Amino acid sequence: MGGIIGCVGNGPVCTVLLRGLNRLEYRGHDSAGIATVSDGSLHCGKDAGRLDEVCVKQDLVGLPGNAGIGHVRWATHGEVSRLNAHPHLDCHGEIAVAHNGIVDNHDELRAGLGGHRFLSQTDSEVLVHLIEDHYQPGVPLEEAVMQALQKVRGSYAVLAISSREPGKIVGSRRECPLVVGLGKDYNFIASEGVAFLEHTRTVAFVEDGETLVLEAGGARFIDEAGRERYPELSNIDWKWDQATKQGYEYYMMKEIAEVPEAIRRALDQDKAVVLDMAMNILRARQVVFTACGTSRYAALVGRYLFSKLAGKFCDVVMASEFHYFSDSIDKNTLVIAISQSGETADVIQGVKKAREKGATILSMVNMYGSSIARMSDRTIYLNCGPEIGVAATKSFMSQLAVLYMLAFTMANRYDEGVQKVTHVSTQIETEMKRNGNRLQRIAALIKDQHSCYFLARGINFAIAAEGALKLKEISYIHAEGMPAGELKHGTLALIEEGTPVVVISPRDFTFNETLANAAETKARGAFVVGVSEERHAIFDEWIEIESSEEIFYPLVTVVPLQLLAYYSAVVRGHNPDQPRNLAKSVTVK
Ligand code: G6P
Repeated sequence: MGGIIGCVGNGPVCTVLLRGLNRLEYRGHDSAGIATVSDGSLHCGKDAGRLDEVCVKQDLVGLPGNAGIGHVRWATHGEVSRLNAHPHLDCHGEIAVAHNGIVDNHDELRAGLGGHRFLSQTDSEVLVHLIEDHYQPGVPLEEAVMQALQKVRGSYAVLAISSREPGKIVGSRRECPLVVGLGKDYNFIASEGVAFLEHTRTVAFVEDGETLVLEAGGARFIDEAGRERYPELSNIDWKWDQATKQGYEYYMMKEIAEVPEAIRRALDQDKAVVLDMAMNILRARQVVFTACGTSRYAALVGRYLFSKLAGKFCDVVMASEFHYFSDSIDKNTLVIAISQSGETADVIQGVKKAREKGATILSMVNMYGSSIARMSDRTIYLNCGPEIGVAATKSFMSQLAVLYMLAFTMANRYDEGVQKVTHVSTQIETEMKRNGNRLQRIAALIKDQHSCYFLARGINFAIAAEGALKLKEISYIHAEGMPAGELKHGTLALIEEGTPVVVISPRDFTFNETLANAAETKARGAFVVGVSEERHAIFDEWIEIESSEEIFYPLVTVVPLQLLAYYSAVVRGHNPDQPRNLAKSVTVK
């Protein structure tokens, strides 16, 4: 996993490539490298470490050439080391290849490449040697790439350059994204458009199984049968400065600050599309949400809303498990896939399976033109702009906003839904201003604890789970979120003197029961942090939220928990944007 970029133009590409990689590094990486072609020679620099460290160690700035490829690696096969970093070179230093994905049959392929000198432990290196085998005199690079990839099983987005054909980049993909950007001075191919947004917003998507030839003069798309395809060009409606920190210390804080606006933008949809989706959901015999991570918690809130507001029961199946439930999926099933990136491998696999079974697919994604969007019968875009922090924040809120809008529409209350959620977005603004100092203090108080528990009931259970996920993924404090009623079935055994317990206890009909559970932890020494519109004697610390109708509490309770996780990461000395071992876009299973 990680990200790839290729760039070709009429001038040097090195700094453009590095800038592009810099925009991709948020996806998660542990090594980086680039290769360029100039004057008939290949130049390559790569190493383990973060991109800025590799740049310095390997003196990447200044590699000559008007065409090049770059890669940020998130290790899957082989340790984090210089030799395992991409690009990989063939035996003669003529071809360089960068790869995202997993070559399933790499062992078998490696065994068949006996005469070749392998330097890395990666699955990816077989690709460059396979291409080398097919790259006979007179054979163009694209032909060699296509022939080589016929032998490959697995997933890939692969880029290749050759010193024999300067000014040309060949790309191909299967199950991993590749998007082409056509600009004035440079043309690009990358894992996602964010990598080149500051140069161009004119894009075209490479289809599964296709090969692309990119040159300064344009792009050629070749399908699996070898025919040329003329794709539609589209415009990514994002500005590149949305992908910069704009004065914030970390992206995550900037993105939390953008939440109210993100909610309003998510609500700004074509009403006819929303009505159509709502009708489809109501008509379907069974409705199943599928998603991973934070998006799955949004689905849990959606399940509750559909049931509460429209009397429609749905299920939520985590995408990595979807396959195992596919026996129950048929043409009367509606699958709702939720994914910020639109590229999460497990969600893609689930959607594929559901399509095979004849199900209808609706999706909610943020990334324009992403794989899940293109596999769906209908898509609602979240429109929250680029989200760079690995931990999802504003995209979660946009997902919730869309789910509220859909649920209200299913209940024939579209206008009311939009108006009420818009109002809640302004309450969130007030809340953020009020809680900053308090949350920093609580983060400092819990910073040396090794575990933290989040309790809630009803619709807020998903928020307890999300609050715990946020805390653990960026601060590395072990955290669990659970329905408060489950406490006595195990977790209570772990409560000791000082254990932080965050109790989401808004003044709704679950208030008294949730507090009773909090009291049970307090009696065993817990440090109770209440999330409520009212201070209660049981709270050691209180996070004040705005009062709202019961169903809207997830929107007002989750932002303080995102901030608590943020401050906890910072006070513990961690970079909240790039948590260790985690990736933004999980494109492998
Ligand atoms: C990764 C990210 C999470 C995200 C999850 C699902 O784990 O770190 O923030 O919630 O993937 O991603 P998706 O793009 O499908 O919403």
